[in-house]
Amino acid sequence: MGKVILTGDRPTGRLHVGHYVGSLRRRVELQNEGDYDRMYVFMADVQALTDNADNPEKIRQNIIEVALDYLAAGLDPEKCTLFIQSQIPELSELTTYLMNLITVSRVQRNPTVKTEIKMRNFEANIPLGFFCYPVSQAADITLFKANIVPAGEDQEPMLEVTRELVNRFNNTYGPVLVEPSIMLPPEGACRRLPGIDGKAKMSKSLGNCIYLSETADEVWQKVRSMYTDPEHVNLNDPGHVEGNMVFTYLDAFSTDQDFADFWPEYKNLDELKDHYRRGGLGDMKCKKFLNKVLNRTLEPMRERRHEFEKDIPEVYNILKKGTESAREVAACTIDEVRHAMRIDYFNDAELIAEQAERFASKQQ
Ligand code: TRP
Repeated sequence: MGKVILTGDRPTGRLHVGHYVGSLRRRVELQNEGDYDRMYVFMADVQALTDNADNPEKIRQNIIEVALDYLAAGLDPEKCTLFIQSQIPELSELTTYLMNLITVSRVQRNPTVKTEIKMRNFEANIPLGFFCYPVSQAADITLFKANIVPAGEDQEPMLEVTRELVNRFNNTYGPVLVEPSIMLPPEGACRRLPGIDGKAKMSKSLGNCIYLSETADEVWQKVRSMYTDPEHVNLNDPGHVEGNMVFTYLDAFSTDQDFADFWPEYKNLDELKDHYRRGGLGDMKCKKFLNKVLNRTLEPMRERRHEFEKDIPEVYNILKKGTESAREVAACTIDEVRHAMRIDYFNDAELIAEQAERFASKQQ
């Protein structure tokens, strides 16, 4: 069996450096390693609407932002199919069939859904579409027969639901769908990069994100204001690197090459951390280094973004072409699904002949 990689994002805002180290960087590597048969990255606008029903404009605006972030990060439409979820009606169809193969209580047990319901204060007023999104996500994955889904830990419950639905579908109707497994990001600081204020989550409302599309100056202002170690007051005080955002970000971004190029006094991050812990190393020096490290990644992205921004209609065209090619695959799977479920009436010569005979015999 071939390798089919698929993953997506809800287009509810611009992507930030947390998205980059958590998933985008790995996607671009996977794409460039080329060890797969097909690779899809899509914008889950239908899923985004499940908790933004009254604000479709937000989604509409962010499609292009996320598309530019993808292209800037190095996703290449020649190698990887980029598409928009809502433009693949086969997804809704498969979702409908899958909904019959799972119970309400099974969805209720999904820990990610539970947390999100709390976070959004839905309580007794959970939109039904929101409640069902794990099933729709199973359709996203199975319609393309993806077997590898790069995603964060929080998506594991969705993958569990997907595998259960694949088994139930295949046992009930025949082997059509493929069981996927999750590909988690590498260990360490990358799994969940905190905000620049040291709060656990990067979020737009907390204003603690560094966006991929920010200018070098905006990034420097944010790096300068980063939360470090409140006990590291005087230069010679010993410092803490745990919970210190400068070091957390260096964990996620810096390489030995960065030290060789920008700060050859240290061979690697361990040496820098040792010095910081001993005392005698100022925050500002570390921040300046982090800024260089970040810029090494962000500057080429800015340049690529700038190029794509010159021809926005072409970016929509890239999405349109990707969506068309995704739809071809979607249509094939839906044909197989309908055939397995035996609801492909018009293609079912046997059914038509059988019924013709049954009714013919009645006539005599
Ligand atoms: N739930 C994912 C998120 O919130 C987005 C998503 C939708 C997704 N469908 C998917 C991710 C299928 C991987 C595979 O980011």
